[in-house]
Amino acid sequence: MSSDPEALAPLLEPFDRFTALLAAAREVGAERLPEPTAFALGTVGDDGQPSVRILLLKGVDERGFVFYTNCESRKGRELLGNPLAAMCFHWQPLERQVRIEGRTVQVSEEEADAYFASRARGSQIGAWASRQSRPVERPGALFEREREMEARFAGREVPRPPHWSGFRLVPARIEFWNNMPDRLHERLLYIRSGDGWRTEVLYP
Ligand SMILES: Cc1cc2nc3c(=O)[nH]c(=O)nc-3n(C[C@H](O)[C@H](O)[C@H](O)COP(=O)(O)O)c2cc1C
Repeated sequence: MSSDPEALAPLLEPFDRFTALLAAAREVGAERLPEPTAFALGTVGDDGQPSVRILLLKGVDERGFVFYTNCESRKGRELLGNPLAAMCFHWQPLERQVRIEGRTVQVSEEEADAYFASRARGSQIGAWASRQSRPVERPGALFEREREMEARFAGREVPRPPHWSGFRLVPARIEFWNNMPDRLHERLLYIRSGDGWRTEVLYP
């Protein structure tokens, strides 16, 4: 790739750098990069066992990185017990990776309501129907629950389920990785320091 070493000079604040990369990822197009907002989310259980799964990023600004989920899911329960989490984005066509670590906080009720209201009705019904991460009691139970919820909310707006909300990961560290020839990749790490950031360049 035409990676310019200058691109890693710590001139940009990390959020601006991230936003520029995400914009570039969106520009790649759905054929080569169908989910530019997809990232892996790592959480840790009470027993210290890490777990990871893919989510979609639904917001980013200087406060942090926002995603939505069922708070009674495995990840939801883990985050409510231990707010420390990690995210990893990989945009293969750009040959870039971004790793983020920090502490999660729940978004406000208003923020969660606004995002839930923007979702397609089918997804809203699905959020009520899915007991995310729990065992399915018997074959077909999910679709029965979907039909029940369709009947329950017929002819009216679907409210946000009380157990469904968003988390904002407030980063303490953000690392930008650029692929380079001969495995001599560029790694620029931003570490939160007071109100700002300090940077380190890491060996690949
Ligand atoms: C491309 C993709 C996007 C996904 N987006 C989300 C999401 O935004 N929120 C979510 O809760 N699960 C999302 N999932 C499902 C999760 O990967 C996971 O299966 C689910 O949240 C249950 O995880 P848990 O049992 O660890 O809580 C997505 C999966 C894929 C493959």
